[in-house]
Amino acid sequence: MRSRSKKFAQPCSSDDDAVMYTIAVTNRKGGVGKSTVAVNLAAAWAQEGLRVLVVDMDSQASATATLLDELAPDAQTTAHLLVGTASLETIIRPSNRAGIDVAPASKELTHAQLSIVAKTGRETILRRALKSLAGYDLVVIDTAPEHQLGTANSLVAASHVVMPFTPDPKAIEGLATTSEVIAEIVAAELSQVSILGFVQIAYDRRLAVTEEARAQVREAYGALLLDSKIRTNTNFIVCPAWHRDIFQIEKPPRRGCEDFRALASELSERLALRLSSSVVAA
Ligand SMILES: Nc1ncnc2c1ncn2[C@@H]1O[C@H](COP(=O)(O)OP(=O)(O)OP(=O)(O)O)[C@@H](O)[C@H]1O
Ligand SMILES: [Mg+2]
Repeated sequence: MRSRSKKFAQPCSSDDDAVMYTIAVTNRKGGVGKSTVAVNLAAAWAQEGLRVLVVDMDSQASATATLLDELAPDAQTTAHLLVGTASLETIIRPSNRAGIDVAPASKELTHAQLSIVAKTGRETILRRALKSLAGYDLVVIDTAPEHQLGTANSLVAASHVVMPFTPDPKAIEGLATTSEVIAEIVAAELSQVSILGFVQIAYDRRLAVTEEARAQVREAYGALLLDSKIRTNTNFIVCPAWHRDIFQIEKPPRRGCEDFRALASELSERLALRLSSSVVAA
């Protein structure tokens, strides 16, 4: 079992000191920026000297595509982890950025989730795998839009959840339905996962609908709405195709990097996570 990192100000949970902060990025609405947030949040934290593991639990494997130049067709992935033919340690590999390792996903995850529906402990596979993992300060899990066993495993394994949303009413509806699923998981005593915050994606202050969506989420959820926003930025569209995060591709004025540094800083404050540089104080 790993020792607690000195970078953390306080334990996250008294019954699980293997990985202190495990953050699932989730929303049942598709295309709201989950993979973008998972990868670039991990990159922002890695830039601060933290060791981050990104676990890809989506068969679309968008986070995997951004973090790895290539993945062999026979590579072991989170699909193998779910069906029990590979351990988490054996599927983890270094990403193309220092400070981030990745547990990749593949399209086999779709079948893997279906094949474990009758398995005892099917919702706690990832949580149990992370318990014995050493060497990371943070784990960031990218989830699929549909609520299948991969997402259930992600939410049960997580200590915290971050939910991205766009101005699309369906994305805001997704915050409610995903919050209900989280409440059910806690009520079922599968986990003590809590919501860290909701982050607005594709923010554009010139569009009235952007502020309207923001006001709606603020009214419904209060302080769960994060101050940080990720502005509309076409550089994010390039990231999976180039297998690079925003910090690796963006040229000045680097608005995407600025937005993710601010998001990492705000979430770090909420987690009482001490970073090696002054980003929290900035
Ligand atoms: N701030 C942004 N500005 C413009 N485009 C963005 C922004 N953030 C993400 N995108 C783009 O929006 C699309 C959807 O983003 P992403 O893949 O991160 O969403 P997702 O929620 O993970 O989708 P899925 O539900 O399919 O997994 C991608 O093409 C991505 O590059
Ligand atoms: Mg995605």
